This record gives sequence, C-alpha cells and structure tokens, in this order.
Amino acid sequence: MKSLGARLALLLLTAIVLVVITSSFVASLVMRGPRPEVTMEPMARQLSILAKFAEADKAAAISAGLVIAPAPAAGRRDDGLSDFLMESLRRTGEPREATISRKPRGGTIASLRLPDGNWIVMPISELGPPPGGWKILAGWLGLIITGSVLISIFAASKIMKPLRLLERASAEIGPDGTLPHVPETGPGEIRVTARALNELSARVKAATESRMRLVAAAGHDLRTPMTRMRLRAEFIKDDEDRLKWLADLEELDTIADSAIGLVREEISKDSLQCIRLDTIVANIVTELTTMGMDIRVSELQPSTISAGRLAITRALRNLLINAATHGESAVVTVTHPGDKAVVTIVDTGPGIPEERLSQVFEPFFRIDMARQRSFPGAGLGMAIAKEIVSRFEGEITVRNRQPRGLEQLVAFKMGSDKLAAG
Ligand SMILES: Nc1ncnc2c1ncn2[C@@H]1O[C@H](COP(=O)(O)OP(=O)(O)O)[C@@H](O)[C@H]1O
Ligand SMILES: [Mg+2]
Repeated sequence: MKSLGARLALLLLTAIVLVVITSSFVASLVMRGPRPEVTMEPMARQLSILAKFAEADKAAAISAGLVIAPAPAAGRRDDGLSDFLMESLRRTGEPREATISRKPRGGTIASLRLPDGNWIVMPISELGPPPGGWKILAGWLGLIITGSVLISIFAASKIMKPLRLLERASAEIGPDGTLPHVPETGPGEIRVTARALNELSARVKAATESRMRLVAAAGHDLRTPMTRMRLRAEFIKDDEDRLKWLADLEELDTIADSAIGLVREEISKDSLQCIRLDTIVANIVTELTTMGMDIRVSELQPSTISAGRLAITRALRNLLINAATHGESAVVTVTHPGDKAVVTIVDTGPGIPEERLSQVFEPFFRIDMARQRSFPGAGLGMAIAKEIVSRFEGEITVRNRQPRGLEQLVAFKMGSDKLAAG
C-alpha cells in the first residue's frame, strides 16, 4: 500500500462504509413501525364498524367491552392525526367527528362521536414517530456529521503528512539553491519527489563548488602574468606612468587574493571559540574610522557567540566597508533579541535594485559600473561574508530601506556567556 492514490481510495472507502453502517443502524432504530398513511384507513373502517355496532345495540357493545363516554378522551389532541382519521372516515363513506389524543405518559386514544352525543373511546396502536423523535434525528445527524468530520480529518492528515514534509523542505531552500536532505520515505510519489529534490540539491551544490574552484583558479593563474607585468613595470622610465601601473597591479593583486580567499573560506574549518560580537564590531569600527570611513556605533549590547574570531572579523569588515563606501555612511548596532545575537548595519546610500538583491552574495556581483565611483573591489566581499556567516550557522540578509539606504543583518545563535573572551 505504497501509492498515494491507493491510500486515498482505501481511506475514503473506509470513511464511507463506516458512516453508512453507522447511519443505517441508527436509522433502523428511529424509523421503526408503519407509517400512519398505511394503518389509518383500515383502522377507520374498524372504528366505524364499532360505531355502527354501538348505535344498533349500545348495551351489547358495552358488555362486549366497548368504552362509551359522554366526552372524548382526555389528553393533548393531535390535530394532524385527528384530521387524518376524519379524512379516512370520509373516504370509507362513514363521515364522523373524531379525534385522536395522546396521553401525557404515552399511548394514543381515538374518540369517535356517536349520533346521540356520546363518544366511543378506544386506545389505538402508536401512530407516527414516537415523542421526541426529532431529538433522536438530531442525534443521528450529529453522529453522521461528527463521524465524517473525524474520519476526514484523520484521512487528510494521514495523506498530507508526507506532503507536508516536502513543503517544509521546500521552505528551507537556501539562497544558494540547496536544501536540507529530504527523507526518502512514504508513498511512491513522495519518495520519487524527495529523491529528485535531493539530487537537485546535490547538483546545485556541486555546481556552486566548481564555480568557486573556477574563481580560485582564475585568481591563482593571474598571479604569474601579474608578476611578469610588475617586473616590466619597474622598467618604465616615466615616474608618474610607472606609479600608475604599479597601483593598478596592486589592485589586481587584491582581487586575485580575495578570489582565492573565497574558496579558502569555503573549505577552512577553523576551530570554534566564544567571541564577543560587540567587541569585534567596536574594533572594526575603530580601524575603519581611522581610515576615514563614516561609520557610527549606535548601540552595542554585550553578545557572545561561538565562531572563529578572524573569519567573523573579515566578514563584518566587508559588510561595514560596503556600507561606508557604496552606502556612503553607516550606523551599526549589536543587539540580542531572544536567543540571537544580531549585528545590524544601515546606510544612507542608493541601496541595491530590488530585482538584483538575490544576487548580492554571488561572486563577482557588482552593480552597474557607471554607478560605482571608484571603489576598488571585484564583487567578492559579500560572497566571502556570506560564506563565513553560513559556516558558523549564522544568517545574513540584506534589504532596502525607505526612502533610501541598505540594511544588512547578520544573526547568530547566542553562545554561552561564561566562556566569553573579548
Ligand atoms: N551597502 C551597499 N549599498 C549599495 N550597494 C552595495 C552595498 N553593499 C554592496 N553593494 C553592491 O554590491 C556589490 C558587491 O559588493 P561586494 O561583494 O562587497 O563587492 P565589492 O565591494 O568588491 O564591489 C557592490 O559592488 C555594490 O554594487
Ligand atoms: Mg565590498
């Protein structure tokens, strides 16, 4: 019973059969006895024979056990049944005044008026549904509805369980296109889908890795021709020209370095230590402001996380430099809402076009060169920051602010304070 279709069919079948069996059982309890339409006419005929008998010989009728009273039987008159009886009497050709009443403690009595003003009073068999029948009906309907609802909910949750697993997995697809391993269990369709998702995730991962290797290889291979160029540049006679060449080569060197650095971040597994996020941020801000960058600290709550100090410093430095250069001026805070430690960097720059936000963490992502004044870089800073933050199970997000500026959020799980080491 591995296919979803078969399971669905079986569950629905069980539900319907159960409901029908239950309702039929209750119906047989409620709908006992013949309907009055069937029994009324023969009874009317019997009653009119008795009436004729009483008219012809009252004494004999009484001695035979017939009750003759001056008034109809006491009790609540059943208007519907009374009319029904009179209609039946009329149809049998003996129209008479008649009434059917119900005794408070059960029992139905028919009274038939004789021409002399007396009444024949006679108990008759129960007609129509028993008193309180509607309560039984309501109970019956309630039972059907409750039963169906319970079974449907059970069936739906049974069917949805594996689907929900896939839903949860898809919700966890990371910005890099990979997703956590989906268990390949359950009905056939789900297993096939889970396997496909896992393969897809593995392929995306492999593609990302080979791209990273490509980046590093390019950085590495640039080194040799750059060394030769530097040598040649040293022989340039014109001083100004030579210095320009050397400065450009210096920048190329930095780019090649960060390209190799990206891959190094990806594979490096430096040990975890308890570090104070607020202290690290304060140090970077001091370092960058002395270089002339416009960065302000707004709030630094003491927050300890478990990560590699050098790597985290590199990541946050990249983000802060971006905010102070591309973003013009930056304000940074360290807070710890709940069990998280969060670094928030906001700036007053142009932000990043909404449709390109999802690409900021890709290697070599840079926005339209015309927009960039002369900020050196190869578009690797964010990619490196992302690589580092993910490695320490942190999360990094960017979004545009209104009316302008970019907000960069880096969140980590809080580590234990006891081991804190600045
Ligand atoms: N705070 C920011 N405000 C506006 N644009 C930004 C900001 N941070 C990054 N960017 C854009 O994202 C690109 C990639 O940034 P990054 O990976 O650090 O590379 P780089 O700084 O070397 O160009 C930048 O070139 C810039 O266009
Ligand atoms: Mg940068």
